[in-house]
Amino acid sequence: MIEFKNVSKVYPNGTVGLDNVNLTIEQGEFVGIIGLSGAGKSTLLRTINRMHDITDGELIVNNQEVKNLKGAELRHFRRKIGMIFQSFNLVNRTTVIRNVLMAKVPEMSFLRVLFGIFRKEDKLEALECLDKVGILDKAYIRADQLSGGQQQRVALARTLAQNPEIILADEPVAALDPVTAKQVMNDFKKINKDMNISILINIHHVELALEYTDRIIGIRAGKIVYDGPSKDVTPEVLNTIYAGKLPTE
Ligand SMILES: Nc1ncnc2c1ncn2[C@@H]1O[C@H](COP(=O)(O)OP(=O)(O)OP(=O)(O)O)[C@@H](O)[C@H]1O
Ligand SMILES: [Mg+2]
Repeated sequence: MIEFKNVSKVYPNGTVGLDNVNLTIEQGEFVGIIGLSGAGKSTLLRTINRMHDITDGELIVNNQEVKNLKGAELRHFRRKIGMIFQSFNLVNRTTVIRNVLMAKVPEMSFLRVLFGIFRKEDKLEALECLDKVGILDKAYIRADQLSGGQQQRVALARTLAQNPEIILADEPVAALDPVTAKQVMNDFKKINKDMNISILINIHHVELALEYTDRIIGIRAGKIVYDGPSKDVTPEVLNTIYAGKLPTE
């Protein structure tokens, strides 16, 4: 469970990222976070695994007060939270399976990391993760020989190899064509339903957000202006979230 209680985030230069946010997200929810550029979507995601510190309020993730975590405790906490980015962040010059195995590095001894020696069970697990996102056949191909959609699936498989409880995805389909974007959203949905992993996804494509997620959080200038079922998002709600700037078809 993720709980924001009166959380604010003010950056050192005085910019307000989050303004008194209150939220509860239960384990296994699939949440889309929408809002204009600069609204605070990335800030919200990044406070959850403490890539950013909050400046006020309380943030509790899996019964732990996030701001109190440090050292080994913080590292262990972060292992349970996967992060996916728009730009995939793969190691391009190596194979797909090696990219997925990177998720195991924090658990490995220095020597094994140095020589790139992975255990058989880790390799099997990596292959299973690739199978879950439908690209098992690409395991031994170099990552930079894959399409954008396939690369994002590798990133997703790498995150799964971490055995996360939560996946935070910051604009994961922004660099993909509309058809591929739908396929990747489908992968997220499947993972969410099959594995009960909570997924929070920042997304600029409103239609995709409404089609695939179960709950929408709308942010405007650091404040939550909508929080409810995706199916209940009306044009008026979108008008509020996007301050009347959303182009209408
Ligand atoms: N490191 C930082 N230092 C100062 N201000 C920042 C920093 N990161 C973000 N901000 C500011 O905080 C506000 C929220 O930014 P954030 O990146 O969370 O928006 P966003 O909704 O993710 O936007 P986008 O859709 O463009 O990714 C913006 O005004 C932004 O300029
Ligand atoms: Mg952002």
